[in-house]
Amino acid sequence: MTRKSMTTARMRAMKEKGEPISMVTAYDYPSAQLAELAGADFILVGDSLGNVVQGRDTTLSVTLDHMVYHTDLVARAVTVPYVVTDMPFASYHGSADTTIAGAARIMREGGAKAVKMEGGREIVPSVQAAVHAGIPVMGHLGLTPQSVHAIGGYKIQGKQSAAAQKLMDDALRLEEAGVFSIVLELVTDELAAAITERLSIPTIGIGSGNRCDGQVLVFHDILDYAANPYPKKIVKRYANVGNVIREALAAYVADVKSRSFPADEHTFHMDEEEAQNLYGGAR
Ligand code: KIV
Repeated sequence: MTRKSMTTARMRAMKEKGEPISMVTAYDYPSAQLAELAGADFILVGDSLGNVVQGRDTTLSVTLDHMVYHTDLVARAVTVPYVVTDMPFASYHGSADTTIAGAARIMREGGAKAVKMEGGREIVPSVQAAVHAGIPVMGHLGLTPQSVHAIGGYKIQGKQSAAAQKLMDDALRLEEAGVFSIVLELVTDELAAAITERLSIPTIGIGSGNRCDGQVLVFHDILDYAANPYPKKIVKRYANVGNVIREALAAYVADVKSRSFPADEHTFHMDEEEAQNLYGGAR
């Protein structure tokens, strides 16, 4: 059966029917193709690429040019999943014009269908400006990695009732500002469930329990795709691709060293007569 392309309206209908929404990050053509074949509803070109692709400790070094480049690789690979791209650090906190220009590049040059912005009430003007310009916006509350130095580390958010209430208010304000969905990262299960219940728009959880409308994980975390993956409580690892790749590369290196690769089946030959004439038949 051919799947219909995902839209924000279909996402909302999934919430209403209680049908879980799947989202996974992707950063290039093959990872996006595989996510589509796996049946993912949404693909996030996350600025987590700063960590898992660029090998940095935070997402702060990721630029708008990086996001446009990776979005283009992903968007050209898929037809069904809805592609959302992160607006990078400090790219949507200035004027409305700057926010719209950045989001427009991600959509026009990259091919994303929507952008994601981290933060609560303080980004409402940016969300409104983008939404008024016809740009679908996904929110992101809880642990917002672009603010890691302001937050003081990657830690669970909204554990105390006052902080939880503030996050609930932020979620309501973002909904009113027009976001079509909100990612809830590293908040307690209780708070994620309360926000999910209260909002009409879908919530997508990461490290926030099983009661959000959908879930998102980072591609490399699902697959253990790194030499030294950093263990995270919130991640279920479905494969150990890092080991598979390392073993395959080691086997290739060993084959080269022992001259067992390339073998005859990987090799082209001249006709015997032509070979005889080579170098005047000297070889
Ligand atoms: O950048 C990212 O991949 C994200 C997800 C972790 C939600 O924002």
